[in-house]
Amino acid sequence: MTDAAGVTLVELEDDPHRIWHQLRAEGPVVWVDALNGWVIVERQAAVKAMRDAVTFTVDDPRFSTGQVVGPSMLSTDGPAHDRHRGPFVTAFTATALSDAIDWCTSEATRLVASIAAQREAELRTHIAAPLAVSTIVRTLGLSDVDDDEVLSWYRTIVAEVEAINYGGLDKDKSLAANDALVAAARRTINDNPAGFLAGANKDLTATEVASNVAVIMFGAIETSEGATANALWHLLTHPDQLALVLNDPTLIASAVEESLRLEPAASAVDRYATTDTEFAGVLIRKGDFVQVSLAAANRDPSVFVEPDEYRVGRPNTRLSTTFAYGPHACLGIHLARAETIAAVRAALRGLPGLRLDRDQSQGPQGLVFRKAAAVTATWDTPAS
Ligand code: HEM
Repeated sequence: MTDAAGVTLVELEDDPHRIWHQLRAEGPVVWVDALNGWVIVERQAAVKAMRDAVTFTVDDPRFSTGQVVGPSMLSTDGPAHDRHRGPFVTAFTATALSDAIDWCTSEATRLVASIAAQREAELRTHIAAPLAVSTIVRTLGLSDVDDDEVLSWYRTIVAEVEAINYGGLDKDKSLAANDALVAAARRTINDNPAGFLAGANKDLTATEVASNVAVIMFGAIETSEGATANALWHLLTHPDQLALVLNDPTLIASAVEESLRLEPAASAVDRYATTDTEFAGVLIRKGDFVQVSLAAANRDPSVFVEPDEYRVGRPNTRLSTTFAYGPHACLGIHLARAETIAAVRAALRGLPGLRLDRDQSQGPQGLVFRKAAAVTATWDTPAS
């Protein structure tokens, strides 16, 4: 058994890429003591595991999100997963989202215009974060709910998930946030009988609809904020690549996709082995924790040439595993891509001469959710 006993969580939070490169030399799947589980570090094995929900399931009592928000599409597999996810699929196709995407494009422009005159700002706080929250609140169409309220539920539920992982659960706070969310889902079902939450309520109870709304909201907020912050970070730290995009704005989509490959906003997905299995050269025991490292798969040198380089126009960037594969592939992929592209386009158009203030900026970090800590930039006064 490959045993990465020396690796610490702090190292993984800070620079996982260096560690995954080292461990990949030992095989596609490695045991990491600090995670008390296996980590899949090669792309082919990663995709295979994500597609095989019979052997590698999310449906395990240790799965912390399930403990906080209750059963949802994120914490079930097989027919139960189909039942939870099915009612939401149509609403998240690119066609069904066209209004939401138009709205988020205008909102990105508005957010950029609101800071343009000040010539300096931290872009994660002023663009990425508010755009992520307002886009998903608007897309879900929850009755009588504003962005601040959703943010307060979000913070409570994230804190509860962390508390389960690291101790100190405050059950009262968590129940209050869940109750408010269920109430908002019920209101929306009643107020908008033609809406997709009412449609979902035909197959799921109102509480189950609310659990899936929670998963959609929280899946969207953390990751979309990270994706936008990271895309701006990568462009602003690579002036040659930024120049390419400024010269040909049709490359923005490629610049975003390459950023998503290099730093997937959700860097790993968790699974549990349902049976003893020989997998990619190791014996995984029933019940073992198996983490699929999307960050490692996305820098697999057998797939991506010079994998640590940020290259706009990389021909196979779309082979990245950032939005996962298999039954749990990201439901919000179209919204996520459109939102990040809208934010980058608005920033490059509305903030001329955009450049990084390196002293006030810090790149991507985090154990699971990796996002640039601060993207402080300056620019010239926009032409009036
Ligand atoms: C760039 C931003 C995003 C990234 C990187 C991302 C990434 C992911 C990943 C890796 C998964 C797989 C989880 C797993 O298999 O355990 C996932 C699932 C999911 N994502 Fe996203 N996501 C993003 C944005 C969004 C948005 C905007 C939404 C809003 C609809 C969303 C909703 C979901 C949901 C509901 C699932 C669970 C699907 C299921 O379990 O069947 N995500 N996402």
